[in-house]
Amino acid sequence: MSGKGEPSNTTIRGDRDRLEQVLINLISNAAKYSPGGTNILVETLTTDDEISVMVKDNGIGIADSEHKKIFGRFYRAKDSNSVISGFGLGLYICSQIIKRHKG
Ligand SMILES: Nc1ncnc2c1ncn2[C@@H]1O[C@H](COP(=O)(O)OP(=O)(O)O)[C@@H](O)[C@H]1O
Ligand SMILES: [Mg+2]
Repeated sequence: MSGKGEPSNTTIRGDRDRLEQVLINLISNAAKYSPGGTNILVETLTTDDEISVMVKDNGIGIADSEHKKIFGRFYRAKDSNSVISGFGLGLYICSQIIKRHKG
């Protein structure tokens, strides 16, 4: 992992445990679907009423055609199915949590 950028002082209202769960899920996926020893970049972008968190890895990536589908319940992208095990629930749960935070 590498550090970059200035620290910011943003406060958001939300369910602390659930938002933590979202971040853990996204960063775990980044680690799971990329080779050991490669960088995972986490960036935040803050506007007046919104904060975006971006997690970028250097792994197999996600095909454009899969982008909308991966948030579906039990959905797993075709490339990863055979190689890496999982239930396909993590991103579904993330999307539900974020929706309930009006994101
Ligand atoms: N960082 C990533 N790189 C590549 N593919 C990813 C990444 N994160 C998620 N995916 C794809 O999205 C699918 C859904 O992710 P998720 O709901 O967390 O399920 P799981 O990790 O249990 O398979 C994964 O099966 C994988 O195909
Ligand atoms: Mg996962």
